[in-house]
Amino acid sequence: MKKVEITSVLEVYDSCDELEGNVQQLMKEATLIRDKAYAPYSSFLVGAALLLENGEVVLGNNQENACYPSGLCAERTAIYAAGANFPKVAIVAMAITAKSLHNVLLTPVPPCGACRQSIAEYELRQKKPIAIYFMGEKGKVVKSSSLENILPFTFDNSYL
Ligand code: THU
Repeated sequence: MKKVEITSVLEVYDSCDELEGNVQQLMKEATLIRDKAYAPYSSFLVGAALLLENGEVVLGNNQENACYPSGLCAERTAIYAAGANFPKVAIVAMAITAKSLHNVLLTPVPPCGACRQSIAEYELRQKKPIAIYFMGEKGKVVKSSSLENILPFTFDNSYL
């Protein structure tokens, strides 16, 4: 038996103001789309903005449903829109922000496991890392330089 240690290195910024200009702008876009989310059941609004290699920005927010599991997270709404509209263009970065209508969310909110799995497919497909930036409503922003960094043991098509 041997033990294997897996580590993830993340960057933590005190606020959006510390981010590079183009990422700050991307986070602003994520904020605007977040506030248009359809989240009447959870009152938890999430926005995701993707920056593509050609400069295009693709947006998504969570879309809930009276049949709860039929809803979709912001990150997957955005990544599938990018895959549908720009199938050959690599995704460089994703900015994510979440806001609760019940309290001010100061903790950075990472993409859920299902979203990480979905984003991983795109990162593997394009063979280039996707930088992930996530935050709450205000405060600290966490950066992961790739999706793989926050999803060790990704299930991928090599197992099929
Ligand atoms: N949600 C997202 O949009 N992204 C995540 O990564 C986590 C959760 C949404 C799903 C649901 O509409 C609401 O937040 C509460 O879970």
